[in-house]
Amino acid sequence: MRLSVNVDHVATLRNARGGSFPCPVAAARLAIDSGADGVTVHLREDRRHIRDRDLERIAAEVPARLNFEMAATAEMVGIALRLRPPACCLVPEKRQELTTEGGLDVLRAAPDLGEAVRRLAGAGIEVSIFIEADPAQIAAAAQLGAQAVELHTGAYADAAPEARGPHLARLRSGAAAARAAGLLCHAGHGLAYDSLGPIAAMPEVAEVSIGHFLIGQSVFEGMPAVIRRMKAIIAAERGG
Ligand code: PXP
Repeated sequence: MRLSVNVDHVATLRNARGGSFPCPVAAARLAIDSGADGVTVHLREDRRHIRDRDLERIAAEVPARLNFEMAATAEMVGIALRLRPPACCLVPEKRQELTTEGGLDVLRAAPDLGEAVRRLAGAGIEVSIFIEADPAQIAAAAQLGAQAVELHTGAYADAAPEARGPHLARLRSGAAAARAAGLLCHAGHGLAYDSLGPIAAMPEVAEVSIGHFLIGQSVFEGMPAVIRRMKAIIAAERGG
């Protein structure tokens, strides 16, 4: 299972002072040097953290599988088609939200979503759709021609440990349904040391994308140590 490190919040910290430090490109490089298997960045419409130049530099300079998280807008599809990252993850985006709040509603999505999937996949990009672990959403994502889904782990990760059971059961059956529908299965949002293990234990999950906790915990432990610990949690569940 791949660990993809989301470096958005290195850019958040940089932007707080308006300068160039800390640099998300350097953070992406360090993540890979520390054993991460890929890098994720979300270029938001309002550019609140990652900026166009960060994305371009990470795509060009960091030898890693880049997962470009994006809204399915004409602007973002244009950027993806120019940069051709190996993978894109289509997410819903609302201007006022603090972070991506829920999965995409593929059942009620505008025709733009299907068009974005077709254009990106046609360019050889692996297209994933960020959704709730709901059988109807999974079937709709497969129908639309996505190669992967990323299951939203936020409600599970945010729940108190004793209340996580039902969320986990839903994610487990979602992961199985995704694979049965011929989709690759990824997972992410809100994951931390205490919530990663049960997700890593799901054999269907091929990638986790982790940002906020990983970058925050790096303040205390350093990014290499945090990545090593996350990789050890994954290895304990998956071997290797
Ligand atoms: N996956 C998706 C689709 C996301 O939108 C985010 C947040 O940017 C993440 C994973 C990572 O979530 P977190 O920053 O809470 O680890």
